[in-house]
Amino acid sequence: MSLLERLLQRIRARGAMTFAEYMEAALFDPDHGYYTTKAAIGFDGADYFTSGDLGPAFGRALSRTAVDAWTALGRPAQWDLVEAGSGKGTVMRDLLAALERERPDAARGARPGIVEVSPRLRERQAVALAGLDMRWASAVQGLAPIHGLVFANEVLDAFPVHVLVRTSDGVREVHVTEQEGRLVETLRQANADLRWRLPTALPMGGRWEVSVAAESWIAQVASALASGYVLLIDYADDERGLLARMGSGTVRGFSRHRLVEDPLERPGEMDITATVDLTAVLRAAEGAGLRLVGAGTQRDVLIELGIREPAARPATPIEQLRAASRRSAVDALLDPRGLGAFRVVLLAKDAPVQGFRAFASPR
Ligand SMILES: C[S@@+](CC[C@H](N)C(=O)[O-])C[C@H]1O[C@@H](n2cnc3c(N)ncnc32)[C@H](O)[C@@H]1O
Repeated sequence: MSLLERLLQRIRARGAMTFAEYMEAALFDPDHGYYTTKAAIGFDGADYFTSGDLGPAFGRALSRTAVDAWTALGRPAQWDLVEAGSGKGTVMRDLLAALERERPDAARGARPGIVEVSPRLRERQAVALAGLDMRWASAVQGLAPIHGLVFANEVLDAFPVHVLVRTSDGVREVHVTEQEGRLVETLRQANADLRWRLPTALPMGGRWEVSVAAESWIAQVASALASGYVLLIDYADDERGLLARMGSGTVRGFSRHRLVEDPLERPGEMDITATVDLTAVLRAAEGAGLRLVGAGTQRDVLIELGIREPAARPATPIEQLRAASRRSAVDALLDPRGLGAFRVVLLAKDAPVQGFRAFASPR
């Protein structure tokens, strides 16, 4: 039975489900969820690509924040380097290779680990990272206590969101129900725990997304971290920026590099994401004992980390071609209308907040 059929059956038996329950099933259902069984990331036959698909420069730049974390922690003989939600494992692979090359002193005691919910992606990661002494866990507690750095690129946007709507009858929540064998939206009374989350400035008819799951995940990361740092990179905006969208909502689907208008179409067969509410995530992080070290755009942070470092002048035509392709990959990572606009946030727990090149220049 397909996921659509199972969801229809569930709605018939138990009534409409919240959009967050729908998104959870569409992405993480053990038998049919997009991430658990299908996720296609990259360029070939994929639904979308991420920064790590553009070559090793991204992982190399992040390795410098890993070195800064290790240095700030007093250069411990052993330290944890954990990626949450590693996709194909490319960023971890590039980061470890750069660490080994540029800072073998830091690489020597690094204990790499991955937190990954998708068994299918865990297999991909094991291939990309073959030969390395890696640890895997399906939840961050499995690698606790962590002393070092936890990083996550484009993971928070995959957490289910509740979608609230301001109506003339009060705050309502988007639910999913059935109409002639299809999944459609319907508005129901919003739960009292969520109602207060709607910003007063949201216009009538406006939508507001709340990711309770992302907020509780950051709290879990904080509790697994004994001392060190959390680096988050994602398409995100603060409350003010999200409000400037006039309540249009940010939930969207991706299939084969195309935006899918209706995320209720073909559950389990496409990626569904929402722009991360940075204000809410930072509030949850601070409530869980994390302290803000720095925040910036991917563009500013990668430039500070030396992604544009001049390399030796290529001698042969083929080397010149390769250098040009590397430059255009870096341009894509820095594109202010694309990946360069992603937000980067570094948080600390029981660790110094100074000494990070990523946030060296005041903004
Ligand atoms: C959009 S992909 C990003 C992959 C990778 N970080 C990259 O940059 O290409 C999201 C990843 O997060 C994983 N993921 C989603 N929710 C997770 C959770 N709660 N814990 C750990 N991993 C999770 C997915 O399985 C997938 O590997």
